Amino acid sequence: MLNEDIKNILPMTSQVNDEGILEIGGCNLEEISNYYGTPLYIYDENTIRNICKEFVNEFKESYPNSHISYSSKAFSSPYLTKILEEENLGIDVVSGGELSVLQHSKFPSNKVNFHGNNKSYEELKQSVDWNIETITLDSFDEISLLNKIASELSKNQKVLIRVSPSVDPKTHILTTTGTLDSKFGFPIETGQAEEAIKLTTKMSNLDLQGIHFHLGSPIFETEPYVLAINYVLEFAHQQRKNGLNLKIFNPGGGFAVSYTSMDKTPPTVKEYANAISETIIKKCDELSLPKPHLIVEPGRSIVARSGVAIYKIGSIKNIPGVRKYVSIDGGMGDNIRPALYQSKYSIFHVTRILEKPTEKVTVVGKFCESGDILSNESLLPKLKYGDLIISATSGAYNIAMSSNYNMYCRPTIIIVNNGNHKVIKRRETHEDLLSHFV
Ligand SMILES: Cc1ncc(COP(=O)(O)O)c(C=O)c1O
Repeated sequence: MLNEDIKNILPMTSQVNDEGILEIGGCNLEEISNYYGTPLYIYDENTIRNICKEFVNEFKESYPNSHISYSSKAFSSPYLTKILEEENLGIDVVSGGELSVLQHSKFPSNKVNFHGNNKSYEELKQSVDWNIETITLDSFDEISLLNKIASELSKNQKVLIRVSPSVDPKTHILTTTGTLDSKFGFPIETGQAEEAIKLTTKMSNLDLQGIHFHLGSPIFETEPYVLAINYVLEFAHQQRKNGLNLKIFNPGGGFAVSYTSMDKTPPTVKEYANAISETIIKKCDELSLPKPHLIVEPGRSIVARSGVAIYKIGSIKNIPGVRKYVSIDGGMGDNIRPALYQSKYSIFHVTRILEKPTEKVTVVGKFCESGDILSNESLLPKLKYGDLIISATSGAYNIAMSSNYNMYCRPTIIIVNNGNHKVIKRRETHEDLLSHFV
């Protein structure tokens, strides 16, 4: 039996069979790896659906006029898009590419929002043309540009304004977005957010619906949300004088998940939902502000836990008294997060997950970089060439941030569900890589 700490990090359907082999979604990971080859990314449909339901239900319970909009930067694919549509989520995009996944999947455009600090003319036109619900404005240039595009297309585009509330969510400096010194959002502190509202309400073809902010990610406490919501609602109240009618309020995403059993336990979805909802309700009552439609936009917390990466062990280098390096057949090309953010991952043996760990190893990738380290100090049973390991909680920002560095062919991605498995993205080939050169 898997202990609770490990269970909470793995997909919800994880279990160990009679031979001691890890199974996810009813599929034996050793058999699956032999069938598809490694590195291999696996998503458990059941886990994704359960987490979607939990978000929708918990937010509806604490704030009935609410909506969950998945942040597709965490992982974007047509198959996932279908699941999200069936689970009644909306979707946020940050690029024309992410938007094209939704267009290809025939996702309802009235459930889509577009974010980003530097959307191009083409991306804005693509969005307005496709009648997406809202576009979140993030710069003065963009306000004028979007108005021009909307008027050229004879449309009235609904928009939100992204403000930066100067609240530090105490996460990694590179994933902090809501502080004054950030490329994202109009700062409230400097008066620029007010200017943005004045300008937007003057625009003939823009319809200002509300305010958005996003503090950063992952945020392990509810306190930063409470602080920022209070501050931004005060601001929204003041801005009534400039024509702001707050129909939509969006305090972003950033909800944390556990990557290792050493992590601080993040709040539950219910705790995040209660803290956010109670703060909005209380503040709106205090300010006599009509309660807006609430939108939250989780990415990581929807898909991180459902995904695992399976790798095969290659060369092993033991430097006596120093360190034992264990190399895998993937690495920073499919998971840049340890190198970029010093993110930690839990590594487990696929066929000996219940065995007592006997050695501390450093799991490294195959890329030509010393910084290509997946996990610095993993406790594992004695490993040998050809063994299979998984890196848990790999569903968010791994594949989404992957690259062809070293001309790496990005891995196959499969979805598992009730004993069935199918490819949702095939492994890249050398021909794929060469096809881009002219
Ligand atoms: C504007 C915005 N919304 C939502 C998210 C999703 O964050 P997370 O995946 O941590 O929930 C991000 C991620 O950085 C973001 O930039």
